[in-house]
Amino acid sequence: MLYIAPSLLAADFSDLKGEIARMEDAGANYLHLDVMDGHFVPNISFGSCVISSIRRCTNLIFDVHLMISEPLRYVDSFIKAGADIVNFHYESVNNPLAVFKAIKEREIPCGIAVSPKTSVEAVLPFVGLADQIVIMMVEPGYGGQSFMPECLDKVRALRRHAIKMGLDLNIEVDGGVTAENAAYCTEAGANVLVAGTALFKTKRPRSVMAAMREAGKEHPFIG
Ligand code: DX5
Ligand code: ZN
Repeated sequence: MLYIAPSLLAADFSDLKGEIARMEDAGANYLHLDVMDGHFVPNISFGSCVISSIRRCTNLIFDVHLMISEPLRYVDSFIKAGADIVNFHYESVNNPLAVFKAIKEREIPCGIAVSPKTSVEAVLPFVGLADQIVIMMVEPGYGGQSFMPECLDKVRALRRHAIKMGLDLNIEVDGGVTAENAAYCTEAGANVLVAGTALFKTKRPRSVMAAMREAGKEHPFIG
């Protein structure tokens, strides 16, 4: 199935409750939560306090994207705050397996994210262990950047690899995703679309989501 994950980073922060309800009404599957620490990435966004507060506003699946150094130190606090899926960056750790282990021990689905400069080979060993692999279509750190189509080759390689292994892997694309480029993403093999600007900065998120779902319909890997 195609999952649509609005990224809260593009919301009006003075009305998080209203913004989340707007996405839920429009048919979102996940709420993508970008956590930035000003160290792993240059920008600072929000942390577990905000996540635990908004947890009370919605039943959407919280897809937490940790763009932080030392994610292992914070895994527990994000799970306690209400994360349903925890994604950490391959580039942020020396030992990804230790982070997988910590998250899986808490029986929470775990994803690994790769920045544009990292090759897909880096994460191939985690297919089978990861519940989700996040392919960044922009440099992590800011919303509203332009989609880098060259990163789609990684999605293709990853989907091919997962099929070869007989695995139903979730492949998430994150950054610059719009109704216009959604079909490129799903054709390449993505089945989770993160979109911040395209969904929050429109008055008609329902039609943008409908266009995204249309793009995903012909996709051979999506039910
Ligand atoms: C970038 C974040 C993305 C971003 C998506 O560092 O991980 O989730 O906020 O927002 P748009 O769709 O505006 O690129
Ligand atoms: Zn993100």
